[in-house]
Amino acid sequence: MTAMDAMVECRDVWKSYGAQPVLHGISFRAMPGKNLCILGASGGGKTTLLKVLFGAHRPERGAVCIDGTDIARLPEHELDLVRRKFGVMFQGGALLNSLTVAENIALPLQQHTKLDDDTIQTMVKIKLHQVDLLQAADKLPSDLSGGMLKRASVARALALDPKILFYDEPESGLDPIATSRVDQLINQMRDTMGITNIVVTHTLESVRRIADHVLLLDQGRVLLDGTVEDLLASTNPRVRRFRTGELEAEEGTGARAQGYYKDLLM
Ligand SMILES: Nc1ncnc2c1ncn2[C@@H]1O[C@H](COP(=O)(O)OP(=O)(O)OP(=O)(O)O)[C@@H](O)[C@H]1O
Ligand SMILES: [Mg+2]
Repeated sequence: MTAMDAMVECRDVWKSYGAQPVLHGISFRAMPGKNLCILGASGGGKTTLLKVLFGAHRPERGAVCIDGTDIARLPEHELDLVRRKFGVMFQGGALLNSLTVAENIALPLQQHTKLDDDTIQTMVKIKLHQVDLLQAADKLPSDLSGGMLKRASVARALALDPKILFYDEPESGLDPIATSRVDQLINQMRDTMGITNIVVTHTLESVRRIADHVLLLDQGRVLLDGTVEDLLASTNPRVRRFRTGELEAEEGTGARAQGYYKDLLM
């Protein structure tokens, strides 16, 4: 791979649920070792795009290249090999509640490698250390704070040493301090391990802290593909209405109040 090759690339990706079209010809590139933030009003297709990127949904049309392999029409057993290249942090964390934090992180290593138990225990400790959670190894997920849960999910996503991490709203439900800690962790993954982070987020402070690149989705189309500065400077009327929160108020679920995006301008 040369320095200019994308780690993740979509070309003209279309995806519907039944008769409802959701993604209308999405194209973009995410470069290796960079943070890409995916933004947009609620219902605009962000989670759907993420699911297409990690192969949970197949697009009807278009190419989805992960580290040079087009996964859009790859047979399931070959897709499993590509899945080894990335980790996923779902909303809510999705750790198994009956297992300790350490056991949760050991699980992908037990399922996908032939490593002996001692090696797995050592690797689990390394992952926990990377997210600053060694002290919580033997706790159950239900005994962790929201921020610790998110970090534990990142540790599990790191288990198989991925090149790419996908996150769906990693800051949801966290207070500003825990949010800032998750953002630091996302940057640390990029800076110390060269991981490519693809982050769906609504938290503008986070966008400012982590984004090398921003993709703004609007009703299943790419409205803006550029830097945070491009987002702030754009004179496109819909981008302007997104910035002021009007698009969210009109088309979103209402969960994100009007003016939510105003702090980007400050
Ligand atoms: N599994 C599904 N089956 C049918 N329709 C779906 C499914 N998942 C999402 N949709 C629909 O697709 C559209 C896009 O949903 P998606 O979850 O991708 O939006 P989003 O941008 O992630 O929104 P939010 O910011 O609220 O998370 C919505 O109209 C939603 O109702
Ligand atoms: Mg979503």
